[in-house]
Parts: sequence; C-alpha cells; structure tokens
Amino acid sequence: MSENATASLAIEGGPKSVSSYEGSGPPKIGVEEFMELADTWGFTEETKESIRQAIGRDRFTSPMLSRYYNPKPSKVAALEALCRELFGVPYVLAVNSGTSALNTAYVAAGVGPGCEVIVPAYTFFATVAEVVTACAIPVIAEVDESLTIDPQDIEAKITPRTRAIAPVHLIGTCADMDAVMGIARKHNLMVIEDTAQACGGEYKGRKLGTIGDFGCFSISSYKITGGGEAGLVMCKDKFLYTRAQNNHDTGACWRPDRFAVEQEEGELFCGYNYKLSELEGAVNLAQMRKMPDQVNRWRTAKQRVVSQLKQHEGITPQKVNDPDGEVGYKLVFFPPNTAESMKVVQALAAEGVPVSCRGDRESRDWHIYSYWEHLMDRKSASADGCPWTCERNAPFVPDYRPDMCPRSTDLLNRAVYVSIDQWWTEQDCTAVAGAINKVLGAFYACSG
Ligand SMILES: Cc1ncc(COP(=O)(O)O)c(C=O)c1O
Repeated sequence: MSENATASLAIEGGPKSVSSYEGSGPPKIGVEEFMELADTWGFTEETKESIRQAIGRDRFTSPMLSRYYNPKPSKVAALEALCRELFGVPYVLAVNSGTSALNTAYVAAGVGPGCEVIVPAYTFFATVAEVVTACAIPVIAEVDESLTIDPQDIEAKITPRTRAIAPVHLIGTCADMDAVMGIARKHNLMVIEDTAQACGGEYKGRKLGTIGDFGCFSISSYKITGGGEAGLVMCKDKFLYTRAQNNHDTGACWRPDRFAVEQEEGELFCGYNYKLSELEGAVNLAQMRKMPDQVNRWRTAKQRVVSQLKQHEGITPQKVNDPDGEVGYKLVFFPPNTAESMKVVQALAAEGVPVSCRGDRESRDWHIYSYWEHLMDRKSASADGCPWTCERNAPFVPDYRPDMCPRSTDLLNRAVYVSIDQWWTEQDCTAVAGAINKVLGAFYACSG
C-alpha cells in the first residue's frame, strides 16, 4: 500500500496537494507582438522606442485575437454591428476576404452541382472562380455601356439550371438593379451582389449589397475601404445567414451550443474556416467608420467634374445607373475606337490628368473574361476534372471562348478611365474638367 493511500482526498475535505504554482510567464501575446504592429505602421525607431517604454509600463493580460470565446468585446462583432447600422441590413457576417464572402454567399444560396450562375464578362475573376469552387457552372453575360452586367443578356442566358445572378458593381458604379431584380423575381433566382469595388455606393437610395439576397464585399487594402485582407457578407434572411455562418466556420464556434445537433435541415454541412481575425476586425472597424465621409468626398468630386463637362460628338459617356448613388472614383467615357481612345489618353496625360485606357493591349488581366483560362480551358484542381466533368454539369458547360462577348471586349478596349481623387478641391475639379473639355474639344465637335 502506498503512503498516499492513507491521506484523505481533497475532494473529501483533506489538504490540497497543490495549492499554487511557482512557475509563470509573460502574457502569450505581449509587447513584442505590439511592436511588430508598430513596425508595420512605419514609425521611426525613436517613436517605436517611446511606444515600447510606454506600453512596457502597463500590466496587461494577453489579448485574444480571435472573435469567439473572447473575454473582451469582439472588434469583429463591433464591425458587423456598425455595418448593420450603416447599411441598414439585419445580418452581416465578417469573413477573411471578398473571395471567401462570395464562396460563402454562393454556398449559402444553394449553388452547387447542376446549377448555373450568370456573371458579367467584366469583373475580378473571384466572382467567377467561387462559382466553380461551389461545383457549379458560371455563365458569362455581356456588360453594357455601364460596364456592368447587361440585363438583356441575362435574360438570354437563363436556363432551367440557372440558380443565381451575380451583378457586380464595378469601379464604384452600380449595376442596373431594378432590371436585375425584375428578372430574378420573374424567374425565381437568387441575386448575389458583388460589391467589392463599390462599398458605400447606392442605387436609388438603397445601399449596394443590400438589394439582392446577398451582398459580398471585399474590404482589403486594395479597395477604397479596407485595411488588409477582409470581406463581408450581408443578407436579410435569417436561415441564409445561418448557412453563411456555417460555411465561414465549419468548426461551429458561431453556434450558441457549438456541437448541438442540427436545428433545421440545411443548417449544418462541411464548410471552411473563413473567420476574420480580431486584428483585421479592429483595422476595418476604424476603416468603416471613415467610409461615409470618404464616399461623400468621392461623389462630390466626381459630380463637380461631370457638371462642368461639355458633350462631344463621337464620345459616349459611361451609362451611370444612378449618378447620385455611385461612389464615383472613376469617370469613364468611350471614344469611337481604340486608336482614338489611345490618342485621347495621351493628350489627357500630357495635360496632367490621371487617365488610362486598356487599348488593344494583349496584356493579361483577370478582370476581363477572355483571360479567364481557368474557364476557357476548364481547369480543375482534381485529376478527374471536377466540376466540369460531373454528370450534372458536363452536358451543359458553355462553349467558353475568348471572343464570346464581343460587345464587352469592344467597350473595354475603348473605355477611357479618369481616376477621381476624393481629396480634390473645387479648383482641382474645375481644372480637370477644363482639361477634359480642352482635349475632347481639340479632337471632336462640341455638341452641348
Ligand atoms: C469585383 C471583385 N470581386 C471580388 C474580389 C475579391 O476580393 P478579395 O481580394 O478580398 O478576395 C475583388 C478583389 O479584387 C473584386 O474586385
């Protein structure tokens, strides 16, 4: 019999074997991690030393940089709450990129094998790629003079397999949402708005991303609002939101009772981990607070320029589906052909205007459908060619060709883009409008 066998157990009122531990260490995430962040901000060595000394004086516990089971109020949850308020939508889910937002929305909307999603010929490739990762088939529609999806071509591309339409509000402008929603209602289709490039924009008084069934946003560094790698999914339906939550966190931390059995059919399925970290949540919370003013500045600057422009024969202005609602960080117009667009761009650049045109360059650009070789060549991550070869998809895969949307190609080759700066003063706007009038007036007759 061992000595201990005679000692009474602590559970029966005996003495505790271990009353405290001598060993302890610093917080898991401490000053060093904070200083790495300070370094990212680009502070001088002197400032960093002051920060190090200041924060080294405080006693603190390790922050938890994940959203769930966090003893402190979550920054990610605060970001979602702010977006619910700013966008006037009941459900907002923060995710770790615009791409994962799209994947989440498609999957939550029930896009899968045997389904088709109609996408525009002009959008960043992620809008299309995530249809394929959801094992469904993208069907490409032309864009019109708004450079957003052409409603007439949507109608032409609908089949019995169409599950959703994905209008994209590109370069700060808005798709023709009345037309898109009308078609969707008529054919009972889901609408998934890709709002990655138009955060804060509106269509007839409604925030872009809140009109369809889902709104997907990228709030990455490359976008007008966003600080790193992050995205948002917005929706109005509780069950769709639940499915979106499941897709974004298959580990189910989002569930009040994490490992409980399914509450409603379709709630649980194998998803991903697209959760947004608290670091990104904090940065994007601050970014989103700045968004309304930022959008107002852009809108005002563009409207100031546009209000001073003269009309010129042969120049087609971009069709703007809601001039009061668009964000307005690009002013676009179409000269009659690519050679003339290049001539106009060179002349405007010489005047000091920030301007670009794709022209007939062969340079690859994954915003344009003809470069989506993933589709053209039906590329697959798996050796069996899934999802193209799946029996529910294979008979219906479109004949993808780089010349299948000639109207879009023509418009994109001719489009002249003037970049608008949100910080331009009235005088800057007048100077830019003057330069545009001067150049167009030199080449084309003024018509109004
Ligand atoms: C229209 C559009 N959709 C989706 C995305 C994907 O967003 P992210 O880069 O955050 O994954 C982008 C980003 O460039 C985009 O421009």
